Amino acid sequence: MDIDTLLSTNAASGRVYLAANVALDHSAPGAECPLYFEALRRALEDEPPPFDTVQYADIYRNASDSWQWMAVSLITNAEREGDGAKRLWSLSACCDEPGTKKLLKHHAVDESQHALLYLALLDLTFPDTVDPTFRTELNQLSPHYALHQELFAVEGSPYAKNPTIDDFLQMNIAEIRTAIHHIMQRPAIAKHCSPDKRNRIELIQNSLLRDELKHVSYTALLIERIAAGISMDRLSQLFRRRFRDFNQITLDELGQGVFDCSVECCTKHSSCRPKIEPGRPVDVVNIVPLVN
Ligand SMILES: [Fe+2]
Ligand SMILES: [Fe+2]
Repeated sequence: MDIDTLLSTNAASGRVYLAANVALDHSAPGAECPLYFEALRRALEDEPPPFDTVQYADIYRNASDSWQWMAVSLITNAEREGDGAKRLWSLSACCDEPGTKKLLKHHAVDESQHALLYLALLDLTFPDTVDPTFRTELNQLSPHYALHQELFAVEGSPYAKNPTIDDFLQMNIAEIRTAIHHIMQRPAIAKHCSPDKRNRIELIQNSLLRDELKHVSYTALLIERIAAGISMDRLSQLFRRRFRDFNQITLDELGQGVFDCSVECCTKHSSCRPKIEPGRPVDVVNIVPLVN
């Protein structure tokens, strides 16, 4: 299955399993992950994600009619990508296994770049909307990581540790959810952008989706490798528990019209809280009024 299958599906549910399949086919053709897919199937059966429903897609579509909501959503995406990059940088710095360490570093660099790409989408879709000084400040949402840079663990970060299968399961779910949000975001942005910007926007969107599917794929492969050493019941139980956490976060966010985990979200959920770096101010809410 290719990316077009995922983009062209009319079904607003069943996309989690489809996204995982497309991710593997696209980023690791020929690779098989029977343990991962069986555990995913069981988890989805017991904990069906609200972000994989028609209702969720409808709420997103209605919210995205507002250009202000859309603009803030792009900024929130940039903020989330930048935070994800920092967490991955710490995880990579403390990873014992050289191959996995390299993959995590690549992932951190990707997410760091994604923060800037979401800001580029903001510029293209809503030109001259954001105050120039504030727009310059927004560039700081990206940590600007590059592969040649030396890894370091952020002091006090809960992610300054050797990663476990539990980390890869959480990353895998988060990446699938990001891919599904990305698919909903495409037509939403198209409602607001001028026709002359569409090609450039589509190039950025293609690059973002390819990367997110790559992240789904490599975490699935890591899960598969580690899963060979544990029972299917244990793997399914872990996957189920993490879906339950993500589902609860998603439902809580829905009430606020938010569609992705942010620093603000992490302050409110015990399952999410480890993502907050100790002492870090919660600043995402300050972004909202500045683009009005
Ligand atoms: Fe990303
Ligand atoms: Fe990602």
